[in-house]
Parts: sequence; structure tokens; C-alpha cells
Amino acid sequence: MGELRVLLEHRDMPGIETLAGYRSVGGYEGLARAVTMSRADVIGEVKTSGLRGRGGAGFPTWIKWNGIPADAPTVRYVVCNADEGEPGTFKDRELMLKQPHMVVEGIAIAGYATNARYGFIYVRGEFLESAQALRRAIDEAYAHGCLGDSVCGSSHSFDLYIHMGAGSYECGEETALMSSLMGERGQPRAKPPHAPLPVISGLWQRPTLINNVETYACVPHIMRKGGAWYAGMGTERSKGTKVFSVSGHVAHPGNYEIELGTPLEELIALAGGVTGGSLKAVIPGGSSVPILPAAQCAGVNLDYESCQAAGTMLGSGGFMVFNEHTDIVALMHVTARFYAHESCGKCTPCREGTRWMYQIYQRITAGKGRPEDVDLLLSICNNIDGRSYCPLGDAAAWPIRASIQRFRDEYDFWIAHGRSPIGPSATPRIS
Ligand SMILES: Cc1cc2nc3c(=O)[nH]c(=O)nc-3n(C[C@H](O)[C@H](O)[C@H](O)COP(=O)(O)O)c2cc1C
Ligand code: SF4
Repeated sequence: MGELRVLLEHRDMPGIETLAGYRSVGGYEGLARAVTMSRADVIGEVKTSGLRGRGGAGFPTWIKWNGIPADAPTVRYVVCNADEGEPGTFKDRELMLKQPHMVVEGIAIAGYATNARYGFIYVRGEFLESAQALRRAIDEAYAHGCLGDSVCGSSHSFDLYIHMGAGSYECGEETALMSSLMGERGQPRAKPPHAPLPVISGLWQRPTLINNVETYACVPHIMRKGGAWYAGMGTERSKGTKVFSVSGHVAHPGNYEIELGTPLEELIALAGGVTGGSLKAVIPGGSSVPILPAAQCAGVNLDYESCQAAGTMLGSGGFMVFNEHTDIVALMHVTARFYAHESCGKCTPCREGTRWMYQIYQRITAGKGRPEDVDLLLSICNNIDGRSYCPLGDAAAWPIRASIQRFRDEYDFWIAHGRSPIGPSATPRIS
């Protein structure tokens, strides 16, 4: 199948980051078309496209847009989630850096479709260059009437602001992001059944739409070429293309855009194949999703349903490849350290459980593991998963539980011998 570039078609075109360059390849035609249509028809086009959120959960985009009470007498907001903290994922960073107008146009179309007056791009604190590229694009878009009063000559007005995060993974979670944006501590808030969805009560208790950078970047293409065109790509339930950030033991790490449903092995081939030995495992969707041993990769296609059937998830598309010299216990040690560090501390299962798990990994990889440690890890996973206040807790438990279920012999070896089963060449290593 190979690469199928929609979002990345012009990634290397000189000048694509400018409004003139972007316009020369059809930029802002989608927005110009959208503002001539009814809001319902714009949402209908997105519905026809079958677009699902690219932030990780794959939620149908049009349902969220349709959930905003567009006619209610209140102010509405749209938010672009550009926090991109999921380890292994770096697609949003490139989209914003190289093609900022595509992201801005997608947000502006969403602003029109939901009758929102204001938009915010919540950019990960470390992404200074991406934020600067967005800043220049927003200034140009204002100067050419694509933002501000009377967007593209219509009666709709829309102002767009950049807000820098401060490097917290949890602030990518939509309710924590809103808290942070409002100047509060970056911790999550209650969701249904205990509180209304953000589309009803989000920023400052007003209707708020939140989508991922890549989700918004798809929208100009859908509005320009039509929802049916977009739905012609991908599988029956996973439509369109997806940008995967490929990293790890491959010859050419980077972002690759493929049609959803492309065989997993083909993405590895696109990235130049496995380096340093044979394939041991893949994490297809960022560090939060279950690891897939090489033996279970055959026949898996990169779409939401196929990944789920294989016992993992497509997630945010952070596709990590590991060769035979990878020490899975050491890999999960790094992973556990990340979640323990990023836990916001609001709820007990995650705050305590992630720290305990990290401490157990420290013990095992110091050669002092106890026979009961593996079952203890599993027990902690089971007490975090489904019992935490927000999905970060689940995301901390899933990869560790899957690694034990699928690579238990490596844990047992570490505990029995006090050293890695892989030997001195094992990767990754951490202090
Ligand atoms: C701990 C945590 C971190 C998250 N980080 C991000 C992120 O960096 N970017 C993102 O788009 N979504 C992230 N999400 C998902 C968002 O909560 C939300 O579902 C998403 O922005 C919705 O956009 P979409 O519908 O376009 O996928 C995160 C979720 C959790 C639980
Ligand atoms: S699961 Fe609990 S402690 Fe962990 S990040 Fe979410 S709210 Fe914070």
C-alpha cells in the first residue's frame, strides 16, 4: 500500500509555512467554502468523512461538534489540544511546525461549525518552535481576513490564541487542559455521570470543543475535497489516513502517513525495516498502549478495530519498534518511571500505585527482585485500572500488565538471576 499522503503531501514544499505557499496548494479554500454553508451542513460533511479523533481515543469527530449547542445564547470555545506528551508521538509537533496554516484553518472551520467566538491552541511547553510557527501563521491569517472579524467575508467572527503549557503530560487530558488554560492547577475534572461533558460545560462553564492537532488538520482537506472523498480511504470503520510517528530500532525514524488499515509490517518496512537484529515487539500507539510481541504482529492492520482485536490499541500513533536485544523489563522500568513522575496526585490508586510500580522496577533491575514481585505488579495494575479518577491511571497499568502477560519469562529471569536475560547488549538502559 505504501505511504498515502494527505496531511503530509506538501510537508517539504519550500514556503508551505507561509499563507501564500499554503494558498498555492488550495489552502483556506475549505474555510471559504465552509462559511458559505450552514453549520449543520459543515458538520454533515465531517460526518460523511467518518473522521475520528486522532488524539488517542478515536471518538467520532462530528458527534462532538454536533454536541455543541450552537444556537444557545452563550459564548462558545474551541480548543486545539497540542500538548502531545505521549511518549513516542511527535506528529503534531511536525504538523504545527511545518504546516501551521493547515492547523489554523481546521480550527477556524470548527469555530464556524460550532458557532464559537474564541479558540485556543494549548501548545506543549517544550514546543517553542512550533508555537512560533503558529504565531506567524495566525498573524498572517488575521492580516488576510481568515481570522478575526468577518472570517472570509462572512458574518462569523473568530479570534484564535496560543497558550503555552508547562510540560505536564496530564495537561493533555482534556479536563486537566481546561483547568490549566483557566490558570488553575492542571488536574482533571469530573466527567459524566458526575458532571456534564465539555461540549456543554467546559472552559469557564461554557460549551467547549476539544480536538487534537491532527484531527483539525484533516478538516480543511475534508471541506475542500468532500467528506465522501475522505471516506473513500481507510477501512469500513476507520476512515482516512493517519500519521504515525515511527521510532526505535528502525533505519529511518520519522512521521509516516498511511491509509488506515495498512498492515503493521508495512509501516516498519516504510521506515526502512528493523535494525540491529530481528523484531521482538511493537508498541503501536504510544507508551500507554499494550505491547505486541513480534509473533502477534502478523496479520495486524493499523486501524482501530484490527489493533483492538490484536490486544492493543492504535492510540495516538506513536509507533515504537524494538529489536531482539531489547530488555522488556528495562523498557517497562522507563515506562513506569514516566507515569510515576507524571501522575498528578489527585487520586490514590494512581498516585500511590504508579510510585509503587516504579519502586518495584527499581528493585528488580538492581538485581534485588523478590519472587512475589511480578504478581505484586499485576495486583497493583488491577487496582489502578478502572479505579482511577482519569485515564492516566489506566494508561499506566495497561502496558505493564501486557508486558508481564506477554514476556513473563523475562521478569522471572531477572528475579531468578539478578540480571538481564538479554545480556550486556540489552537496550534500553536507564540510570
Ligand atoms: C493523560 C492523558 C494525556 C493526553 N494527552 C493528549 C495530548 O497530548 N494530545 C491530545 O490530542 N489528546 C490527549 N489526550 C486525549 C484528550 O483527553 C482528548 O481525548 C483529545 O484531545 C480529544 O481530541 P480528539 O477527539 O481529536 O482525539 C490525553 C488523554 C489523557 C488521559
Ligand atoms: S489517575 Fe488520578 S492521580 Fe493519576 S493523573 Fe489522573 S487524577 Fe491524577
